[in-house]
Amino acid sequence: MTDGGFESICSFVEDELEFATSHYNDSYLDRRISSRIRRTDSDGYDDYHELLAADPDEQEAILDSLSINVTGFFRNPDVWEGIREVLISLSQSPGSVHVWSAACADGRETYSISMLAQEEPRIDASDFYILGTDISPPALETARAGVYEQSRTTDIEGQLDFLDSPEEYVTQRDGAFHVTETARENVTFQRHDLINDEPKSGFDLVICRNLFIYIDPAYKAPILETLGRSLQSDGYLVIGKAETIPPELKSLFTVHDGRLRIYTLTADDPVRNAT
Ligand SMILES: C[S@@+](CC[C@H](N)C(=O)[O-])C[C@H]1O[C@@H](n2cnc3c(N)ncnc32)[C@H](O)[C@@H]1O
Repeated sequence: MTDGGFESICSFVEDELEFATSHYNDSYLDRRISSRIRRTDSDGYDDYHELLAADPDEQEAILDSLSINVTGFFRNPDVWEGIREVLISLSQSPGSVHVWSAACADGRETYSISMLAQEEPRIDASDFYILGTDISPPALETARAGVYEQSRTTDIEGQLDFLDSPEEYVTQRDGAFHVTETARENVTFQRHDLINDEPKSGFDLVICRNLFIYIDPAYKAPILETLGRSLQSDGYLVIGKAETIPPELKSLFTVHDGRLRIYTLTADDPVRNAT
């Protein structure tokens, strides 16, 4: 195994397969590539590079493996109890509520927001508008369909235990879980690259979880600035439970619940005032 071999696989994936390996941290990339080396019985980086260059099926397999779309309904249920309280508080303010599920993978996080809003009696879900975005077109295709095959997903029933009446929001047929029309109301999906695309605007709550654990640390602060600029001045941000706000951005966000990683925008923060 040589570092040069690792680097040249990353360059091949970036240049030929158009997946921006330079945005991700090396240890993450190395874990994914080494796993493909083992699965294909290749003899190290150079041997695997040859296989990858010649085999379109392996090109698809490495892209699938790199797209880090691990997700679920109500992932970390304790965080969703915190999100419930935020949604209730937003629902009690005048006007409609706009929520952005950024880096939403296959949409289960996005639909979880909708299901929670529909089920919680203290929320008027008819006034909620929920947007899910991701960089990955195949993930968005699944999200828009709202159909999750049993064979490709683990324990969806367990994930839905968070709800009192999950059958209102997901039905099972033909070996798949189908998100119902009720849960799809007011939910839309769109492609958005958090590194290269512009911020959005007017969101009351942005949920962006489990992206920073994979991304190169250099992109973390710019992404968090993009998220901060997309919020209303009294908006909330939720990041992943294992993620942190970098020190240079601590003035932008005020801790609302430190354990659950829920923040609000700091009223007179310099980043927002610079826009
Ligand atoms: C681990 S999933 C997180 C899914 C969901 N937020 C959750 O916590 O369950 C990470 C997602 O980030 C997406 N992603 C990676 N780079 C991105 C970028 N630059 N902009 C937007 N999404 C990105 C991936 O396609 C993947 O679907």
